[in-house]
Amino acid sequence: MEFYSEKQQITSIINAFKAKQLTLGLVPTMGALHEGHLQLVKKALDNNDKVVVSIFVNPTQFDNSEDLKKYPRTLKKDLELLKTVSKDRIIVYAPTVDDIYEGKTVSQSFDFDGLEFEMEGKFRDGHFDGVGTIVKRFFEIVKPHNAYFGEKDFQQLQIIKKMVEKNHIPVNVVGCKIYREASGLAMSSRNTRLKPAYKKAAPFIYKTLTAAKKHFGTKSANKVLEWVEKQFAKHDLLELEYFIIADVNTLKAVKRKSPDSYRKKKSYRAFIAVYADDIRLID
Ligand code: PAJ
Repeated sequence: MEFYSEKQQITSIINAFKAKQLTLGLVPTMGALHEGHLQLVKKALDNNDKVVVSIFVNPTQFDNSEDLKKYPRTLKKDLELLKTVSKDRIIVYAPTVDDIYEGKTVSQSFDFDGLEFEMEGKFRDGHFDGVGTIVKRFFEIVKPHNAYFGEKDFQQLQIIKKMVEKNHIPVNVVGCKIYREASGLAMSSRNTRLKPAYKKAAPFIYKTLTAAKKHFGTKSANKVLEWVEKQFAKHDLLELEYFIIADVNTLKAVKRKSPDSYRKKKSYRAFIAVYADDIRLID
């Protein structure tokens, strides 16, 4: 498996691929890879000749320096995992902060048409400017035909699509389904930090989401919200930060009252953030 940490090296490899007319997929990650990430890589391998997996813990998307410090860095294990998927079609690009930011570790400021102010945007100051900055940078360096992002971070996926559209970046952004543990818990590098009691409790999140989806067929969005809040109020270990049923395009909360009217044209999706001890889980 090829591995590069310098922009110049990866650029010349990419140019060689382009000269051979090979299709190129990109899977941006922050490492600490798990089966959820590998699903994205597998999908990329299915649809491209070569796949660049970037591994970079991006400082500008962390609003909390402790989180940045604590973020797991497991490069050796990540490379082993990637080798199990393909030995000769994956190129790993793991740059240093200096290589990618060239001494200026700051975010560009973006206008994502308001998507950045909803949901996660209310709790993570500057996060999406940081994500936009680094993903745009990777698009410029790797120039992929296709780029893969998980629905696990649905708001991030929509924001990247918006950035691509507004900046006319020639890349096809592909969304990939949430990969779950057998218990239903959405897979995340944070799950490994859950203490046993919280790990056992956490599948309650997806169970509640699944039940909420059923209720949405007959109850108004407000009633479903009340129901979800009640379930978490009764729970000893999990603390609800937010639950929202939102329009997938605007990410704004559904307002209308009649459940029937929801089904008319638009599609909706429910989003949740929950604290399990000091670990924040989203689904
Ligand atoms: P990271 O959290 O490492 O996630 C990398 C990609 O894997 C994201 O697109 C994320 O949505 C996807 N992913 C994570 N867990 C998943 C799961 N259980 N099922 C499906 N997809 C999953 O997201 C980031 O990194 C960063 O913000 C990044 C885009 C790399 C920019 O720094």
